[in-house]
Amino acid sequence: MEPTLPDNQTETLHQDQHAPVLTFPEPRSMTLSIRASALVFEDPSSRQLLDHVERIAPSDATVLIIGETGTGKELIARHIHALSARHNKPFGALNCAALTESLIESELFGHEKGAFTGAVGAKDGWFETSNGGTLFLDEVGDLPLGMQAKLLRVLQEREVVRVGARRATPIDVRVIAATNVNLEEAVEAGRFRADLYYRFNVANVQLIPLRERPGDILPLTRHFMGIYGKRLGYTEARLAPEAERTLLDYDWPGNIRELENAIHRALLICPGDVLRSSDFKLSGLKPQISTPASSTLSTISTSSLENAVKALCEQSPPKLFELIEETIIRTAFDYCEQNQVQTARLLDISRNVLRHRLTIYGMLLGKQQIKPQEPAINLYTQHTGFSARNSEEGYCEHY
Ligand SMILES: Nc1ncnc2c1ncn2[C@@H]1O[C@H](COP(=O)(O)OP(=O)(O)OP(=O)(O)O)[C@@H](O)[C@H]1O
Ligand SMILES: [Mg+2]
Repeated sequence: MEPTLPDNQTETLHQDQHAPVLTFPEPRSMTLSIRASALVFEDPSSRQLLDHVERIAPSDATVLIIGETGTGKELIARHIHALSARHNKPFGALNCAALTESLIESELFGHEKGAFTGAVGAKDGWFETSNGGTLFLDEVGDLPLGMQAKLLRVLQEREVVRVGARRATPIDVRVIAATNVNLEEAVEAGRFRADLYYRFNVANVQLIPLRERPGDILPLTRHFMGIYGKRLGYTEARLAPEAERTLLDYDWPGNIRELENAIHRALLICPGDVLRSSDFKLSGLKPQISTPASSTLSTISTSSLENAVKALCEQSPPKLFELIEETIIRTAFDYCEQNQVQTARLLDISRNVLRHRLTIYGMLLGKQQIKPQEPAINLYTQHTGFSARNSEEGYCEHY
């Protein structure tokens, strides 16, 4: 299907200085850099990452892409779309940080004619424009809290209500969200809704900074020298060995985008067809993320969990262990919308253990209640690796 621009996109771009960054699957309409479809993944860690991306791509799961600036978040989002069953449907890309708060709602969900001053005609939002396909929401960490609540509703209900409309429109859109800020910290600081974070984070892709995949630096360099060299009329541009060293030794705070620009600039200014160290003007900025860049989301989660437990230890409330366990069970149960099977799977415990805990903590209502004759499972056995017999289903489980 040939994607089409929304009727009034040109109008929007003219009317508003803060127009969103919008890109389409139609290659001719893309910016130069995003048009690049060749992916260079030669370092072993990025090959592993590519495998992971290719495994999750065909599913319809929402994906959260986390990575420093310029690590290829949008390129990966497009790759996921291209490998999915939605590949011949629209791919919409919206930079949430480029929108003013007042514009976001109508850009995302559309509006009806006369919905607000200046709404001279009805307009599709990006959910509707991307219907059947994929919507890439970049820099979601910058979404205002009010908008996060509305977005969460859309993801849950799978329908949008245009600004000024009374009726909802069903939508079928796979969302890929990206962030270069630590969303977990934003959740802790109250700037980002935990429920939306979980909703985005069904599958996650943690892009590795370029300085941590040195095996990609020279292949990417050759890749960009090929593209820009051809464009600038070089028959064969080469890299001097001392320049290779310079590129390998540099930290690349702006990651692949910075490397791409550095190659382009060096080719523009180099006197011959050999690129030397002196042709590269590298910024010397420090990498943007202060937490160790190699940390995966799960290690970040673990450290914030540890901090929370430490804070509780300092307060030393009564029955600390039960308090923590109850919090884990309740949070997971709510997250899984009170579905016992999913909660047990998420926590990686048996359903019976879960039901005992839910009963103990008074979280089961009516017919969900556990049968009274079932033996209670001793907390001690669960945490010391002993097995507990499940009388109802007649098998033994190990914890
Ligand atoms: N694996 C790759 N192979 C080849 N080119 C790549 C690769 N990853 C990224 N690029 C190129 O690097 C540039 C930056 O990629 P992209 O825009 O996807 O990064 P980003 O993480 O979205 O950046 P930002 O945080 O600035 O929005 C683009 O020109 C893209 O084509
Ligand atoms: Mg981007």
